[in-house]
Amino acid sequence: MNGARIELKGAAYRYDALVRVPDLSLAPGEAVACIGPSGCGKSTLLDLAAGIKVAHDGEVSYDGEPWRALAETDRRRRRLHEIGFVFQEFELLDHLTVKENVALPLMLQPERADAESEPIAALLDAAGVGAFATRRPRHLSHGERQRVAICRALAGTPRLVLADEPTGSLDPDTARRVLDLLLSFVRDRGATMLAVTHDHGLLDRFDRVISFDQVSGSGAPAGNETAGGTA
Ligand SMILES: Nc1ncnc2c1ncn2[C@@H]1O[C@H](COP(=O)(O)OP(=O)(O)OP(=O)(O)O)[C@@H](O)[C@H]1O
Ligand SMILES: [Mg+2]
Repeated sequence: MNGARIELKGAAYRYDALVRVPDLSLAPGEAVACIGPSGCGKSTLLDLAAGIKVAHDGEVSYDGEPWRALAETDRRRRRLHEIGFVFQEFELLDHLTVKENVALPLMLQPERADAESEPIAALLDAAGVGAFATRRPRHLSHGERQRVAICRALAGTPRLVLADEPTGSLDPDTARRVLDLLLSFVRDRGATMLAVTHDHGLLDRFDRVISFDQVSGSGAPAGNETAGGTA
């Protein structure tokens, strides 16, 4: 299955003020990092790319189709079937076990609800949290919860992975291992990935880096691209 193609052009989202995000074009199969100071709009950019937020200005498209052209139910269906999202605050459900949290995207798709549990167990093992499969997320450390959130994003074999500081709570060795897991997953499947990171030591693992250096407001977007490493 091919990765998704994502394009943002002149996109902005209005909270109290208008937050502009840089123009961006992600080709299928690309793994791109996004960096920038706190509050510049990185999480907003990921929400726009996923169709969680719909731009108030400019255009954001998924496989050439503007998100704004889809009804909310269609946007939700596409997210469920095709996009894995690692939220900055994880958004795990505490009334479910770790394993149930990770299986949830599959459970919500009737045609996949009978999926084998082995791939999920293997994913949890690969992320180093296999021993916690039957625990509730609140009984895990922050970094362990982060890894569970990553497993949940990958469980549905998405075409697009959007990851908001996916290694932000991890020590350097674990961060590298977890990023390897994410990158090998997307590269093996030709999926597309956009990851926000403050971890500059990991940037050379990505195909490209988007530097996002702007203050929120109505100013012009200031996206700035640099070449990533060879990965
Ligand atoms: N729900 C909201 N209501 C009002 N303003 C918001 C809301 N969410 C975000 N903002 C504002 O929009 C701007 C961009 O926020 P965003 O969360 O996208 O930044 P960020 O780059 O992800 O920051 P961080 O690195 O701290 O996570 C900030 O100025 C923030 O205060
Ligand atoms: Mg953020």
